[in-house]
Amino acid sequence: MLNDKDHNRLFRKQLCTKPKEIMAIAPSSRALCDKMVERLRPNFGNVIELGAGTGKITESLLVHGFNQNQLALFEINDYFYIHLRNSFPKSHVIKSSAENLRTAPLLNVQAVVSGLPFLGMKKKLQENILSEAFKKLKSGGVFIQYTYGLKPPVARSVRQNLGLSTKLIAPVLNNLPPARVYEFRKTII
Ligand SMILES: C[S@@+](CC[C@H](N)C(=O)[O-])C[C@H]1O[C@@H](n2cnc3c(N)ncnc32)[C@H](O)[C@@H]1O
Repeated sequence: MLNDKDHNRLFRKQLCTKPKEIMAIAPSSRALCDKMVERLRPNFGNVIELGAGTGKITESLLVHGFNQNQLALFEINDYFYIHLRNSFPKSHVIKSSAENLRTAPLLNVQAVVSGLPFLGMKKKLQENILSEAFKKLKSGGVFIQYTYGLKPPVARSVRQNLGLSTKLIAPVLNNLPPARVYEFRKTII
């Protein structure tokens, strides 16, 4: 596991070159990453992570008991991709947009955990990602996303089109900036 200083250094370098893709001023805090994964159970299935960045949420998944080979990590940034491959050699690290998450070589997926900058995404892209996620998730599966905003990070029309329920899990004040963790589930099967 990297220490926070190394995570910050890696992150800042990419933030300067690709600010629109990253859309955050720092990697997620350990408190936020732990909150994202605490409700998941390693023996209940695999996990797909979107926008894995420097791998801080990935580290929380491993500390929480997941094996590397239970995880598929999607990342579009070249530099983060190489870093993730080196850090998690037994995970399925995929250099591709989150929209292509169905290509993940995993079945029995209990959760999609996302650090994507949803607030900055067009509704069409949000809808494509969530629609693909719920095709890949097993029945009862969950999509977990954090946001720095006060409202749910997924547009209301997208949630309605896809028949998703929205649940605020918790605010996390110990993050820069403070964040909120949301869960989305299919209500119409
Ligand atoms: C806010 S950072 C989050 C990084 C890390 N998950 C964390 O919480 O610290 C957003 C990440 O999403 C990646 N990203 C942005 N758009 C993406 C897309 N369409 N598909 C996959 N990754 C994307 C960025 O390169 C960046 O690593």
